[in-house]
Amino acid sequence: MLRIVVCVSGGGTNLQAIIDGIAEGTIRNTEIAGVICNNAGAYALKRAENSGIPAFCISPKAYRDRTEFNAAFLEKLDELNPDLIVLAGFLVILPEEMIGKYRDRIINIHPSLIPSFCGTGYYGLKVHEAVLARGVKVTGATVHYVDEGTDTGRIIAQKAVEVLEGDTPEILQRRVMEQAEWKLLPEAIDRIAAAHG
Ligand code: GAR
Repeated sequence: MLRIVVCVSGGGTNLQAIIDGIAEGTIRNTEIAGVICNNAGAYALKRAENSGIPAFCISPKAYRDRTEFNAAFLEKLDELNPDLIVLAGFLVILPEEMIGKYRDRIINIHPSLIPSFCGTGYYGLKVHEAVLARGVKVTGATVHYVDEGTDTGRIIAQKAVEVLEGDTPEILQRRVMEQAEWKLLPEAIDRIAAAHG
């Protein structure tokens, strides 16, 4: 059984795709040990609660500084003892110590075809705004391992999605989620779980 911890910041639709994938059997041999969220108002927390998954809010606002927040975050992760950490719309810069400790055991979903529209400042809706501003005709999503850089780790899977005439950032974001993210991330977890044995 692959024990995963899912880290989230917002709506949690990717978390939902993982929960559903496990329930429906498209993600095999996997259990969610817990969900960690940095934002108390995130709907993702509600999704975890609705599915009976232990959920923890660790917000930087509750700590004196980044060092204390990082320590609390790492302590919770270690306590949950994951085989794999899944960043599903987690918009926090990871403590370096965590990346070293969990090397090759952290994956992230990014809403573009890396190396386009990624790196510092490219997250959430901003990615889709930049895609539309540049006028590219194809975008997509990428699942990759996390290293010390921003969106620089080894690529696991990618899926292309068409940009259509009249798209707004919100419409495009939804299409990228539906056609790429909600399939790609569950598939990647299933494959890692199969290799985990
Ligand atoms: C998703 O589109 C995810 O790819 C993106 O944030 C959104 C979270 O949505 N992540 C990043 O931009 C990371 N750089 P969700 O909370 O509904 O899953």
